[in-house]
Amino acid sequence: MIYSRIAGTGGYLPDKVLTNQDLEKLVDTTDQWITERTGIKKRHIAEENQTTCDLAEHAARNALAAAGLQANDIDMIIVATTTPNQVFPSTACLLQARLDIRGCPAFDVQAVCTGFVYALGIADKFIRSGSVKNALVIGAETMSRIVDWSDRGTCVLFGDGAGAVILQASAEEPGILSCHLHADGAYESLLTVPHGISNGYDKMIEGNAYIKMQGNEVFKMAVNTLGRIVDDTLAANNLKKTDIDWLVPHQANIRIITATAKKLKMSMEQVVVTVQEHGNTSAASVPLALNVAVLDGRIKRGDVVLLEAFGGGFTWGSALLKY
Ligand code: ACO
Repeated sequence: MIYSRIAGTGGYLPDKVLTNQDLEKLVDTTDQWITERTGIKKRHIAEENQTTCDLAEHAARNALAAAGLQANDIDMIIVATTTPNQVFPSTACLLQARLDIRGCPAFDVQAVCTGFVYALGIADKFIRSGSVKNALVIGAETMSRIVDWSDRGTCVLFGDGAGAVILQASAEEPGILSCHLHADGAYESLLTVPHGISNGYDKMIEGNAYIKMQGNEVFKMAVNTLGRIVDDTLAANNLKKTDIDWLVPHQANIRIITATAKKLKMSMEQVVVTVQEHGNTSAASVPLALNVAVLDGRIKRGDVVLLEAFGGGFTWGSALLKY
């Protein structure tokens, strides 16, 4: 039997920081409102000439070093992103060239904030089938490019960053125990960037393709859906809530994270929270948080870790793994 395990993690946040106090000067908001409603204190913003691929490259190189691998050991690249560099080539192909890797499959996955969990689920299937040995799986975003900086309802929430893992074939007991991926496209009106290539291209090139969100409705859906997927994931693995050592949730809002932890009856000590540091980095948020907890020694080999995310689409998903 072939399983997949995480051999190394990496993360990267751009140097430029935008604090809540900085936002007070841009829109009618306060540090107190943002902190109480979201838990976010600051977010990192890519420089004008810094692309999603640049952030992904940093995270990828960190993950390769952590796994003790060279770029040419990689035989599959998946980049989860909603904010690709350009229409094509995919950000994964651009990254492949940067890393000087030739020939292996490289493609992007678009599942907004759930993108990394989707990419991990796909890579796991390729590895279990025996066709891939070392997959580079990345969540990378420049959300700042699709934020309307005059909309206080959304601009306080998002940031830029990238997180990566090397998913490796292993004959030993499973790393990834199960992945659960879902979508329901009926909710476009609640969370969308309504313009793009074949729909409102003129608006996109004018720079008017921005996130529109009914925050309150999305909030309720996220809390309910994440509660359900946690139960489904445990049931699929015949595990109890107490079997989980660490929850690594999508970092969108501390109140959504707290509600999921409560549902799991987990103490917040067992929940990896980084949202205060970088806001919602969409597909990058789960691997960024995972990397932080691995680097600071909280998540250790053998720990049972639950990753979960919810985002535009709507999409949602979870991955249960033994680190
Ligand atoms: N500063 C001050 N006041 C604000 C701000 C702000 N930045 N933003 C909104 N308000 C006001 C509103 O105008 C409203 O005022 P009113 O009562 O006078 O009308 C009041 O605050 C309450 O607004 P709500 O939208 O009801 O506030 P809520 O408690 O729901 O918090 C938030 C808003 C933080 C957006 C929350 O709803 C949320 O986190 N939603 C989920 C976001 C999410 O998880 N998205 C999923 C992933 S994103 C993706 O996939 C791309």
